[in-house]
Amino acid sequence: MKRVALLTSGGDCQSLNAAMRGVAKSLYEAIDEIEIYGIFEGYKGLIYENYTLLQPSDFFNILNEGGTMIGTSRQPFKLMRTPDANGLDKVEAMKKTYKKLKLDCLIILGGNGTHKTANLLREEGLNVVTLPKTIDNDIWGTDMTFGFQSAVDIATESIDCIRTTAASHRRIFIVEIMGHKVGWLTLHAGIAAGADIILIPEIPYDIDVIVKAIEKRTKGGNRSSIIAVAEGAISVEDSLLSKKELKIKKKSVSYPSISYKIAKEVEERLGQEIRITVPGHMQRGGSPCAYDRVISTRLGAAAAELVMKEQYGYMVAIREGEIVPVPLSEVAGKLKMVEPEASIIKEARSIGVCFGDK
Ligand code: F6P
Repeated sequence: MKRVALLTSGGDCQSLNAAMRGVAKSLYEAIDEIEIYGIFEGYKGLIYENYTLLQPSDFFNILNEGGTMIGTSRQPFKLMRTPDANGLDKVEAMKKTYKKLKLDCLIILGGNGTHKTANLLREEGLNVVTLPKTIDNDIWGTDMTFGFQSAVDIATESIDCIRTTAASHRRIFIVEIMGHKVGWLTLHAGIAAGADIILIPEIPYDIDVIVKAIEKRTKGGNRSSIIAVAEGAISVEDSLLSKKELKIKKKSVSYPSISYKIAKEVEERLGQEIRITVPGHMQRGGSPCAYDRVISTRLGAAAAELVMKEQYGYMVAIREGEIVPVPLSEVAGKLKMVEPEASIIKEARSIGVCFGDK
């Protein structure tokens, strides 16, 4: 008899259900006696013993369902060692639930924060296998995370829609794309939808460069411009501040988001109104695209294989089209950021995309 539990943690994304289906179908196919538990709402369910024994039928017809059928929550890694309001030791509580269920392995689907906690549980002696999910595509060790391509498609469609109205009214639009720390989503959607200016956290922007780029477009006969802005885009001057200084500055001049700051500064210089569109959580919702369904199914099957081989302490990753195990100890705590000198940036620059830096 083998017993495993599935747990989805952090912000949701498309194809979490598809990935769990991949894991479950492989395990049910290969092992006669297998129990698969679903831990509700991420690490919260593991801490507070909230779970259920899943049945094969729970995995029927979920390949194209968005969200996660077992729910998720954000449990910050930095608070994992801090007891809860009732003095409960969260790490000990998670170990207790694991032992109570007599698990052979915990299969965790999550992003960066989730991987730090997964590695902590591994260090605490639990058997853990993880899968890389996030619309941000920022997990170190894998070329691709599932959820990313679906979000790119939605963000691209949002910019496409804005483009037609922007052109009709000869307006300048900012479309704000998710991604606080990294710009993969903005970069890909921006290129896919033909954004004229793309601002990402990895390349701090200079407002004068943005203004010049718009003026150049206007002179060239383009009366509308689209600026794709990542949530975490940052100006050159702010990028030079310490974390503490930046926090104080943000408190003193507060904007709903970075797009409003950029819009105000560009409006002041150009004397032209700028409109802002924020697709927000739509980017994480709805049905997964075909590509995500394929990779999450493959990653799910590969995670199940690791469980069958009792090869624990790994994240299944995609590298050059192949699925490979990567030690969790190497993944945890590292972000995969856009390299400012990457060829994708050079290619975008070569077709005239402005990144706000030159
Ligand atoms: O899960 C990743 C992400 O969607 C980021 O792109 C975004 O910055 C953040 O989550 C939003 O978090 P929340 O859902 O907690 O508002």
